[in-house]
Amino acid sequence: MSKTHIQFKLNGSEVETLVEPRELLIHVIREQLGQTGSHIGCETSHCGACTVDLNGESLKSCTILAVQANGAEVATVEGLAASGELHAVQEAFMQEHGLQCGFCTPGMLMRSYRFLQENPNPTEEDICQGMSGNLCRCTGYQNIVKAIQVAAVKLQAK
Ligand code: FES
Ligand code: FES
Repeated sequence: MSKTHIQFKLNGSEVETLVEPRELLIHVIREQLGQTGSHIGCETSHCGACTVDLNGESLKSCTILAVQANGAEVATVEGLAASGELHAVQEAFMQEHGLQCGFCTPGMLMRSYRFLQENPNPTEEDICQGMSGNLCRCTGYQNIVKAIQVAAVKLQAK
């Protein structure tokens, strides 16, 4: 099958690669571009483990073809601490034990990162609604919600 050249910004750096028209963005990010932080939990758009930021919106990267990201700005969990310091959502998940096995965590962090820009002062209900596309098999969600509340306070203090 002939391949298509695509180019986009990944965590602030221009990347380019050749992809098959049927290839999903999550596979290209992980397998061709070596950014394996984003996980594949279901490939059916349910779990949110593959959540990235695309042009300023949360996106489940198993729901989009890589060719559709041509020219876009994409951020993954690897980009959150790009300045060398943990992002407030990372600090808060660590402090509040917002994870157990960690499989869902990259997607949780990327969705939290965007959610707190959409709603910097969320209620608990807002958080549950805003994070409803991200599933966790381990934590029971309480510490995740608490971590996002703590991250909101940290971000407002900055
Ligand atoms: Fe994309 Fe589950 S792997 S939503
Ligand atoms: Fe294990 Fe969420 S911490 S799936």
